[in-house]
Amino acid sequence: MTKDTVTYRFPEGFWWGSATSATQTEGATHRDGKGKNIWDHWYEVEPSRFFQGVGPQDTSQFYERYKEDIQLMKEVGHNSFRFSISWSRLIPDGRGEVNPKGVEFYNNVIDELLGQGIEPFVNLFHFDMPMELQKIGGWANREVVDAYEAYAKTCFERFGDRVKKWFTHNEPIVPVEGGYLYDFHYPNEVDFEKAIQVGYHTVLSSAKAIRAYKQLNQGGKIGIILNLTPSYPRSNHPADLKAAKIADAFFNRSFLDPSVKGEFPEELVQILKEEGFMPIIEEEDLEIIRQHTVDLLGVNYYQPRRVKAKETLPNPDAPFMPERYFDHYAMPGRKMNVHRGWEIYEKGIYDILINLKEHYGNIECFISENGMGVEGEEKFRDENGVIHDDYRIEFIQDHLKWVHRAIQEGSNVKGYHLWTFMDNWSWANAYKNRYGLVSVNLDKNGERTIKKSGKWYKTLSENNGF
Ligand code: NOJ
Repeated sequence: MTKDTVTYRFPEGFWWGSATSATQTEGATHRDGKGKNIWDHWYEVEPSRFFQGVGPQDTSQFYERYKEDIQLMKEVGHNSFRFSISWSRLIPDGRGEVNPKGVEFYNNVIDELLGQGIEPFVNLFHFDMPMELQKIGGWANREVVDAYEAYAKTCFERFGDRVKKWFTHNEPIVPVEGGYLYDFHYPNEVDFEKAIQVGYHTVLSSAKAIRAYKQLNQGGKIGIILNLTPSYPRSNHPADLKAAKIADAFFNRSFLDPSVKGEFPEELVQILKEEGFMPIIEEEDLEIIRQHTVDLLGVNYYQPRRVKAKETLPNPDAPFMPERYFDHYAMPGRKMNVHRGWEIYEKGIYDILINLKEHYGNIECFISENGMGVEGEEKFRDENGVIHDDYRIEFIQDHLKWVHRAIQEGSNVKGYHLWTFMDNWSWANAYKNRYGLVSVNLDKNGERTIKKSGKWYKTLSENNGF
């Protein structure tokens, strides 16, 4: 493709890159002084929970191969890249001593990225609570908020001279859902009251990290990364509309409103009060949250949420769940990613951006994750080792068209990061679904090969469009 054939051109300086996280890529879980986190622990006690029994120690060897990988990032056209710091690699017990080998590793990664002309976007928490802190209750315990604030400060002090884009959390609702409602993260409890306290402490921890960052005057930006799932009602019937509104308050606005506006959504507070689930809030908290909102918002978008009014009365004896207020439904004729069981609805990305423009002060934002997980990609590998993932190219293009349209309508979106750079370990699903622009061949000691999508992504970035 030449520059002349670009139909969808993006604004000058658009961020093209991808995102990863520490637990999903580093491996070396017991090396060089790293402490255990909940994933290391969960794998030890319940390995059968993980697809084909593959645990976090086997993730894509980024700890050893970061130089080779950053070189490949360059080759697939990245001008920016998000990774996360492993809290338990930097501070093995979550609080207390800093691990010099951890500092050295992240310094090396940051310097290597900058050396290749790739801007590091650094996230502080990606689902990986240090085990020592989980033992005292994890996010349910307020002491962990203080430990996190100290950890965040350590990161700013050690790396903030070079890192100018920080994120306090990635998808903070996921540990709430996975760990305390729907049983897909450790400590896999079902306890709505705790879930609310965990969510609340996470919001507070984000505001406190933002405050700590601003006090250091390092001149960069700090944000949060949220997975937003636009809630579409089944019909315009008032009961369906109400159901969709409540789902939106639970799953989107619970973090979006405090992060961007400094306040919690009234609808949610109302329900929590009525049902007796208000979290424990200390006096100065709400003012800290009000004053320390984000500079920049990362939007992870994969799928919408389709909602209808409840058709059956909830069982009063069942544990309380958000679904007491709505039901999900499968829209007839919807397009699916069958591998993941997720609906593909490209326009959702536009609806999110326009909502941010209209209701959130057009906050500076970027697409921080979007992508397609596919099982069995090996069958698309040709004799030269290249995986022909045309479906991924199509998926990206179909979403980018809507991002482009949102920009034309005034959205303040500054970039697009794909999930993800190279195939990685996706929590309990391990290596089941592959998302990368670069394949990782587990049968050949993690050999990397750029996929067809990786080559295409380079032209996308070079042309600043497609
Ligand atoms: C969102 C998460 O941030 C990431 O950890 C995960 O692997 C991807 N989505 C794909 O499910």
